[in-house]
Amino acid sequence: ENPENVILTETDGRVGVITLNRPAALNALNRATMHAVVEAAEAFDADPQIGAILVLGSEKAFAAGADIKEMKDKSFAEMYASDWFRDWERLGRVRTPLVAGVTGYALGGGCELAMMADVLIAGPGTRFGQPEIQLGVIPGMGGSQRLTRSVGKAKAMDMVLTGRQVGGEEAERMGLVSRLVDDEAVQQTAREVAATIAGFSTPSAQKAKEVVAAAFETPLQQGLVHERRVFHSLFATQDQQEGMDAFTEKRPPRWSQR
Ligand code: CAA
Repeated sequence: ENPENVILTETDGRVGVITLNRPAALNALNRATMHAVVEAAEAFDADPQIGAILVLGSEKAFAAGADIKEMKDKSFAEMYASDWFRDWERLGRVRTPLVAGVTGYALGGGCELAMMADVLIAGPGTRFGQPEIQLGVIPGMGGSQRLTRSVGKAKAMDMVLTGRQVGGEEAERMGLVSRLVDDEAVQQTAREVAATIAGFSTPSAQKAKEVVAAAFETPLQQGLVHERRVFHSLFATQDQQEGMDAFTEKRPPRWSQR
């Protein structure tokens, strides 16, 4: 396997697309893949031509988890010293909105990667799960934290303690999925959602992401003040003026991305 090809990247207008590309391993997330995804996402984040990042897998598997074969013979000392999975934190710091089109298996680290997305599109055939308990371990890429925050204790405990897979319909009812569409339409819908976001002014899209994400970190009063200050800060952009001028002039805005 050529480590260069564990992911494919392309740009589609203002959307940066990252496609996981380890079909023989159901897109298992080994270290090379983690590095490639994080580096690609950071490069898109730094590119002013990019307004949204789209993460896709394959029809059969978004990702079937962290790479079990790569980890299986590691010692505690090796896992601890390398702080295995730490690099995924870099993905959490990307400011550009992240959309995931999740088809097939999204298990373990695959479910956790999907939950790192800001908008998650799935179909009835998508299979979410945190099966780590079946391997004698627990989630390690944020599953216990992000899953619990997004679906609550009852569902998170069920998934993490039994390893039960949850189909897309149940996942949507649980609040894990932003939009449920036909399986065949998942990737295209995710592309359209990413294009919609990328079609807005990136300063406002990035700040929208920032303030919603802050709701998970801050007490309500502090979050409300933060939101208001960020709202005020957008009045330093040209695009605020343009967006509001365009509305009053009844014409589409022409974003300068400033
Ligand atoms: N790591 C490494 N290889 C994997 C893998 C993984 N997570 N998931 C699948 N593969 C490999 C299989 O070993 C197999 O390779 P070989 O052909 O060399 O045997 C290939 O991908 C195809 O997989 P299957 O033959 O198993 O395909 P299937 O259709 O019969 O089953 C599946 C699909 C139910 C998803 C099954 O592959 C499976 O259970 N995978 C593991 C799921 C899992 O436990 N994920 C959690 C990993 S731990 C983790 O993610 C920790 C964390 O919190 C980050």
